[in-house]
Amino acid sequence: MIKRLLTAAMLCGVISSSALAQGGDAEHGRVIAFTCAGCHGIPFHQNVYPTYSVPRIGGQSEGYIIAALRAYRSGERRHPTMQAQGNTLSDQDILDIAAYLSELGDRQQ
Ligand code: HEC
Repeated sequence: MIKRLLTAAMLCGVISSSALAQGGDAEHGRVIAFTCAGCHGIPFHQNVYPTYSVPRIGGQSEGYIIAALRAYRSGERRHPTMQAQGNTLSDQDILDIAAYLSELGDRQQ
């Protein structure tokens, strides 16, 4: 049991240190950005009902995405939906999502 816990702890160490070395882990970002596509990944960036525009986030610069998500999370940038999204993200999640989205270029989301 103890041996198993130690192995798990060591694996976590390896994963998080490799993510830190690169800043954001785009692969983890891709997984957790799945929910974001529900709003940001729709054609023409318009929600069906109620109709409002959703900004395109794929291909935006990494620094901009990090700053925007931190601002929503702290409440500095006010928008109820995105503040709720930001509150679910850790600092590392934000780096990971920004790494993924900034790599998308012209592709969707
Ligand atoms: C329920 C719909 C919805 C979901 C889900 C959602 N967003 Fe948003 N997002 C919006 C809307 C609407 C705005 C525009 C808010 C504003 O005007 O400030 C926005 C704005 C943003 C911006 C700022 C874009 C800009 O050009 O300034 C970023 C970055 C962003 N979202 C990232 C995300 C990420 C990452 C996720 C997933 C963790 C996510 N959003 C999930 C609706 C959503």
